Amino acid sequence: MKVAIIGGAGGIGSSVAFSLLRTDTLYEIVIIDNRPNMIVSHVMDLQDALSLGGARSVVGGEMSDAMDADIVVLSAAVPLTLNTSRDVYLQANADITGGIVDELVEGGFAGILILMTNPVDPLLTWVVKRTGWARERVLGYTLNDTQRFRTGISQVLGVAPQRVSCWVVGEHGAGQVPVFSTVTLDGAHIELTAEQRATALDYAENWYVRHVALDSGRTSTWSSGIGGALMVEAIAHPGDKPFPVSVVLAGEYGLHGVSASTPSILGATGLVKVVEIPLDSQETKRLHDTASKISELAAALA
Ligand SMILES: NC(=O)c1ccc[n+]([C@@H]2O[C@H](COP(=O)([O-])OP(=O)(O)OC[C@H]3O[C@@H](n4cnc5c(N)ncnc54)[C@H](O)[C@@H]3O)[C@@H](O)[C@H]2O)c1
Repeated sequence: MKVAIIGGAGGIGSSVAFSLLRTDTLYEIVIIDNRPNMIVSHVMDLQDALSLGGARSVVGGEMSDAMDADIVVLSAAVPLTLNTSRDVYLQANADITGGIVDELVEGGFAGILILMTNPVDPLLTWVVKRTGWARERVLGYTLNDTQRFRTGISQVLGVAPQRVSCWVVGEHGAGQVPVFSTVTLDGAHIELTAEQRATALDYAENWYVRHVALDSGRTSTWSSGIGGALMVEAIAHPGDKPFPVSVVLAGEYGLHGVSASTPSILGATGLVKVVEIPLDSQETKRLHDTASKISELAAALA
């Protein structure tokens, strides 16, 4: 399976490549970026790890090398700056993303696009309109919100995060909707107290602001690299376990034509099925308010 990572010399892209090397799947990985020396640096390094992992090859490439890829992971972006919302990158990253997807359309790319660039939900809504591609093959990476909710809950409970399961729907951003009715510990539903909920929410919802305020110049490269690779693996090895992704909704949750995060079944064609989880009236309102904001941001793009 050929995976082209565009923006692959950056923090997220190189981490996805590294994490794919840690799987047993024979990926042919192509790293594409507009920083040629950085491509070579990563490829020289990753190639030496090939004998330790499962991937067949790791090479640097050009946009033309992405056209016959089974999966394109797109993480090209402007550099991180000090801010409190991913929305500040909307126009600049739309300019980059738009140029890249236009090339993919022109080059006849027929695979699955995994968009990681932020703000992922409005960009994805816009990309699906711009390309005319079926929503099934255009997926946004949003696992981190669910993971952070999970970490926050595990810290509150003082248990290992692997024992906790839960879901977040909505925006990869301030408009995320953590769904407390989905929280389980060792597979059994648990109710958190109001205080526990508030602490877990603070961890999940304010993670981005706290991390960017460090002014480290780096995003969540490790967790997103593992998560991005897991998403590729969910497509490469289809199963019946839902994965959180941003997809353009087609009636699910009462929403149409706007991309938001939801548990979904993935497979060889990309999205196989949205797994709609039951929401209470407050969660539904929050999701709909968030969806309106995402639609407005997407509509503001040319
Ligand atoms: N969806 C998520 O959960 C999630 C998580 C973390 C980061 N992100 C986002 O992913 C994006 C990338 O993050 P990063 O840490 O890798 O940033 P980075 O700055 O390290 O990497 C971005 C890369 O894109 C390259 N690039 C820019 N324009 C290009 C173009 N036209 N063609 C090819 N390459 C180009 C740059 O040279 C750079 O190597 C950001 O938008 C970030 O916010 C998303």
